[in-house]
Amino acid sequence: MRRPFIAGNWKMNTTRAEGVALATELAKAAESITKCDIAVCPPAVYVDAVGAAIRGSKVGLGAQNMYHEPSGAFTGEISAAMLVDLGCRYVILGHSERRHVFHETDADINKKVHAALKAGLTPIVCVGELLAEREAGTTRHVVETQCNGSLAGVTAEQLAGLVIAYEPVWAIGTGKVATPAQAEDVHRDLRAWIASRFDAATAEKVRIQYGGSVKASNAPELLSQPNIDGALVGGASLKAADFLGIVAGV
Ligand code: 13P
Repeated sequence: MRRPFIAGNWKMNTTRAEGVALATELAKAAESITKCDIAVCPPAVYVDAVGAAIRGSKVGLGAQNMYHEPSGAFTGEISAAMLVDLGCRYVILGHSERRHVFHETDADINKKVHAALKAGLTPIVCVGELLAEREAGTTRHVVETQCNGSLAGVTAEQLAGLVIAYEPVWAIGTGKVATPAQAEDVHRDLRAWIASRFDAATAEKVRIQYGGSVKASNAPELLSQPNIDGALVGGASLKAADFLGIVAGV
């Protein structure tokens, strides 16, 4: 049985003080959370302070991105080892904003996935189609191509511990949430892809989150779908009450 996993992707939001206050509130509330894993992914510059605020609590720490090289002359970049050093357990890789705003390719993301795994981080690998791709009926092809590229060379054992986030680009930050049936269809396809590329036992283990305008009101129905194992939450992760409202829907 897969344990649900709800993670907050704060994106480029909060001040240091706001981030610490939000994390402190979540850490306190998390004492009574038993049904799922939760994590926060603050901006890189606040990972250290937020990590200190949640240390010893049930709230996991994640980053929103990293670079694949271990060290060296890569101005502005952050390595997997640096994230581990700050207490990170997770790292979001291949988020749609990284793909579409910063033009990261599946090959780039694949290098990051391997570097993250090597450092002991759990990658949250994001996939998802554009509206035009959905309308053209190519959603399955798009997400499978993204998985093939970004997960190339990953072993079944590594995949079993990794998290995939299905985030349809048209649902991110738009208030247009995929219907539970639309999301479940893609999650089922993704699990079938894992079973065909690896094996059925591995497919049963991989946690697949849904992301895209998740909020407390739509979370229960999304999270009740058999192949939806949690959520990657953007806007609604910035207020403790909103995020905890989603967690309550597990
Ligand atoms: P929203 O929840 O703001 O739509 O963002 C989703 C997302 O991109 C999480 O990574």
